[in-house]
Amino acid sequence: MSATATYPNYSPGLEGVIGGITTISDIISETSTLVYRGYNVHDLASKGSFEETAYLLLYGKLPNRAELDAFKKTLAEEREVPEQVYTALKQLPADTHPMDIAKVGFAVVAPYDPDYAAPATDQAANLRKAVRILAKASTIVGNGHRIRQGLEPLKPKAEHTIAQNFLYLMSGNEPDPEVAHVLDSSLTLYAEHGYNASTFACRVTVATLSDIYSGIVTGIGTLRGPLHGGANEEAMKMIMEIGAVENAEPWIRDALATKKKIMGFGHREYKKRDPRAIYLTVIAKELAVKNNVSHFAQIADILENVMETEKGIYPNVDFPAAYAYYALGIPIDLYTPIFVIARVSGWSAHVLEQLSNNRLIRPACIYEGPHSVEFVPVDQR
Ligand code: CMC
Repeated sequence: MSATATYPNYSPGLEGVIGGITTISDIISETSTLVYRGYNVHDLASKGSFEETAYLLLYGKLPNRAELDAFKKTLAEEREVPEQVYTALKQLPADTHPMDIAKVGFAVVAPYDPDYAAPATDQAANLRKAVRILAKASTIVGNGHRIRQGLEPLKPKAEHTIAQNFLYLMSGNEPDPEVAHVLDSSLTLYAEHGYNASTFACRVTVATLSDIYSGIVTGIGTLRGPLHGGANEEAMKMIMEIGAVENAEPWIRDALATKKKIMGFGHREYKKRDPRAIYLTVIAKELAVKNNVSHFAQIADILENVMETEKGIYPNVDFPAAYAYYALGIPIDLYTPIFVIARVSGWSAHVLEQLSNNRLIRPACIYEGPHSVEFVPVDQR
């Protein structure tokens, strides 16, 4: 008998289990809709900026002009990280993955936060920390990328948005407005997504009354895996392995026949289409054509068609993000760290929500091991 039949209350992977109540975002699978605090993510991505979205997630309402200007000013003031962070990042091996760089960066920056000593339950301090975390994420990832190449970190510019700050530090050049705009929209799409694995892990961490930085480091570690945020990097590697349009159909059919997981496809919550993928696919395919990688768009078409007809499975946001970021000239191993730059806003909103009505998160498990085993002293074993 299967474990789920033996234990009716057991749901592997906690599938379908309700772990909490939230007012931050809602996933409506039947209509392929995602809303952040009531606003459709398509509207936020097309008509707003990532900064407005982050404000919405953190403060619960969209900012008016004065509030947005003040928020951007604070973000600009908080963007730089202490020199000690760069000193620490310079100690890491050159082949350290940028997700580990991000983890180390946030671990080192935590004790330098002016509210470091505030109790975990001080929500005003947590909000200030959340804004600093948001401001610093693109600097840690962007300058972390410079450091691993043996380059010196650059000083962030106050006039840049978060997307521009990342692009400027990544390349050392003034960002192209169109590239910054596409990246900005993708940050909005990546910002928040309910009780996904990294957000849940983050909530578990802070529910012990640990601190928000520990929650963020937990989130980064959880996001890294290829079944979650790491899928955007793996999807790009897959598209590159396929290489040519004529290889795409045999490749995907063989992959399905051998029961391979196709990275960037499928979702626990969306059983139809992922609305973030619907939005980003249009942009990604246009970008691919414009930037001389139109074969990636054609490969994507073939994979999408075969996955839909053979499995009834659709792309998730990580699939179009992969070839969109490639077309924008972003190194592949920075794709998941870009997800971090966006998702720190959602993680922080969840930290604040968790601590506003906290209860330790501690599920039960079923023990199937033995009992009453006699202890034999070590020398007699
Ligand atoms: N390729 C091939 N088959 C798939 C895929 C896929 N990408 N996704 C699901 N399936 C099949 C799976 O093999 C299973 O079939 P069967 O019942 O015949 O064994 C069925 O669909 C259910 O899959 P599951 O893995 O049990 O479903 P889940 O809810 O646990 O998985 C998922 C969700 C995202 C882990 C899974 O779809 C997957 O591994 N996708 C690839 C990795 C990926 O793209 N992850 C990013 C998720 S979205 C962005 C984010 O939040 O990070």
